[in-house]
Amino acid sequence: MPESRRLGEVSDRNLALELVRVTEAAAIAAARWIGRGKKNDADGAAVEAMRKAFDTVAIDGTVVIGEGEMDEAPMLYIGEKVGFGGPAMDIAVDPLEGTSITAKGGANSIATVALAERGNFLHAPDIYMEKIAVGGGLPEDVVSLDAPVKENLKNLALAKGVDVEELMICMLDRERHAEMIAKIREAGARIMLIGDGDVAGVIAASQPMTGVDMYLGSGGAPEGVLAAAALRCIGGQMQGKLLFEDDAQIERARTMGITDPNRIYTIEEMAKGDVMFAATGVTSGPMLNGVRRVGHGAVTHSIVMRSKSGTVRYIEAHHNFAKKNLDA
Ligand code: FBP
Repeated sequence: MPESRRLGEVSDRNLALELVRVTEAAAIAAARWIGRGKKNDADGAAVEAMRKAFDTVAIDGTVVIGEGEMDEAPMLYIGEKVGFGGPAMDIAVDPLEGTSITAKGGANSIATVALAERGNFLHAPDIYMEKIAVGGGLPEDVVSLDAPVKENLKNLALAKGVDVEELMICMLDRERHAEMIAKIREAGARIMLIGDGDVAGVIAASQPMTGVDMYLGSGGAPEGVLAAAALRCIGGQMQGKLLFEDDAQIERARTMGITDPNRIYTIEEMAKGDVMFAATGVTSGPMLNGVRRVGHGAVTHSIVMRSKSGTVRYIEAHHNFAKKNLDA
């Protein structure tokens, strides 16, 4: 391998680990607000800690999926520059995915970040996205947003060699999903309804130990891009369709480069090229343990992955607040 490529690989690997520091900082800060009923404070703490942690990362980063527009978000707004210099990268962040979960002390909230070379993330507006996702090792296009629910279930069951009755579909527990829920149950499959947190929901479809076979339903479009980045690394298929409510949203999306409002995006169209993804548990879920306070420190549990190598690393970190400048 030529020297320059070797150096590039080393810095990529280091960058992936730097990303974990960023999500750890956000998770530790958010964890102070678990169960306090104050979702905005939890979110604010995570955003501030994540923003600060980015200052030590060697990238020339631009936030493309963030906390909102410059005039509505003081930090990690779309277009904000982060990092202290290095390769030009686009960044997708959700410093606290599951603000209500955290406020209520529920399961499965995470701090998360994805990174790709400039221009490789879909610049998704803050609207809903229809999502469908399955894990790796299945025939290409085994499920599709174009197909009726019943057909998707039949094809997935066939590909997995199981009965439709055995399938578990994960979706957000929302009134807008009532029709879809009825169709899934009518077809015989089971449903795992989650209160919030569809990034973790999509990832669950790719993790055999969760028992989830498919993720379905609408949720935030920015969360869709983060989930696509994760699946690019961990393996799996996903499609997303932006759900516009009015012409103003379509016009706004046009300024972000989205010209066809009816387009169904493939996973690569949402997150292409070499992608890195990191997440740290804030509250515990099937994939990650939440932050645990221990003495004068905390234990965090994170996942970090790169699409280039396909390596998935779980990192348990023991933080000592007496020695570290972390937000205790
Ligand atoms: P927050 O962390 O911003 O509260 O988002 C939680 C979440 O459940 C996302 O995972 C999901 O994409 C979105 O909200 C769904 O939106 P809605 O609650 O409007 O259905």
